[in-house]
Amino acid sequence: MLEKKLETALNQHVNAELWSAYLYLSMSCDMDNKGYVGMATWFAAQAKEEFEHAKRFMHFIGEMDGKVALMPIEEVRQEWNSPKDAFEDTLMHEKIVTSKINKLMDMAVELKDYATQNMLKWFIDEQVEEEATARNIVNELQKFDNIPAALYALDKRLGKS
Ligand code: FEO
Repeated sequence: MLEKKLETALNQHVNAELWSAYLYLSMSCDMDNKGYVGMATWFAAQAKEEFEHAKRFMHFIGEMDGKVALMPIEEVRQEWNSPKDAFEDTLMHEKIVTSKINKLMDMAVELKDYATQNMLKWFIDEQVEEEATARNIVNELQKFDNIPAALYALDKRLGKS
């Protein structure tokens, strides 16, 4: 059984994951508009993953006899100055998501809710991976952003990953 305060926080996080999906979908559209087809594919795949994250939280709330409450998804940014800008925004966003998950873990620990702590462990590992992936791409773009051939190669590579 979930404590009400934790149920509310988990539902807010469902919203945050759905917002992430919406953000990456928007980045995908913008990259597509700018001619970076590989990056558009990469961001579309991220959006799908975020949707799966939201579903994972929803499933857990249901399993714990809680009630899923879907809330409105706020508007997202629609344009980025460059791929570097979009990936820097991605890294910044993933850091925010990590801190949200850490706060959920703090609450689960405080409430001695072991099942929620266990579920959140998967997300803690996932965030390490997501931040590392975004950071590696940002590092590459910071070095090669102004070299069209390097940008072209990165776009091709991300389209296949
Ligand atoms: Fe679901 Fe990228 O955090």
